[in-house]
Amino acid sequence: MAENKGSANKNQAYAISDVEGTRKLYAGWADTYDSDTTEGMGYVAHKVIADLSAEFLDKGTPVLDLACGTGMLGTALREHGFSIIDGLDLSPEMLAKARELGVYRNLGELDMTQPYDIEAGSVEALTCCGIFGPSVIGPEHLIHLAPPLKAGARAVISINGKGYEERPFEEALEALFDDGLFREIYRGFNDYLPKEDIDALYVVLERF
Ligand SMILES: C[S@@+](CC[C@H](N)C(=O)[O-])C[C@H]1O[C@@H](n2cnc3c(N)ncnc32)[C@H](O)[C@@H]1O
Repeated sequence: MAENKGSANKNQAYAISDVEGTRKLYAGWADTYDSDTTEGMGYVAHKVIADLSAEFLDKGTPVLDLACGTGMLGTALREHGFSIIDGLDLSPEMLAKARELGVYRNLGELDMTQPYDIEAGSVEALTCCGIFGPSVIGPEHLIHLAPPLKAGARAVISINGKGYEERPFEEALEALFDDGLFREIYRGFNDYLPKEDIDALYVVLERF
């Protein structure tokens, strides 16, 4: 049977290891990303992250949604009662889709492979869904989550299970704890792309 388009794009995303290639991939995927991932592959990470955010974040706090993509998580957060949501992403085309939803206060471009151009200690809550994994954003980039977060702020993130198996995410998380940057509030494996048989580790971190 022919591979569906979402699955083909997902496999391409997993194989790409550079930022320019990633930008091009998402420029061509933005229009059909939502249906390709949810209907095509059963993507549920945004729902799991929104549920965890409702449990572990204060709904009155502004949330920064990193790698917000087309905004499916922003919509789910809004449905859970979060009112102030900002989004950042590499891809202008994905951001344009998110903008159409009207659920984000501010949206802008950011490359997560580099230290974020965000004032240190200014972010009160953060979500990051569907980007740490087997492709361009790996364990070495987890450290970039720390500087923008203020003491006590929480980050709710997913780590794609395929990436978790193949790359030293566990060691990178341990380093964040050992270095006194974060403590772990929650961890658990849950569905991610069930039709592709891929789960994810979901983690809630709290900044020291
Ligand atoms: C699989 S999508 C997830 C989007 C959204 N969070 C969701 O759950 O539907 C990955 C997103 O990460 C973005 N991305 C890829 N590389 C990035 C990078 N280096 N910096 C920031 N965002 C990146 C892509 O543009 C895309 O929107």
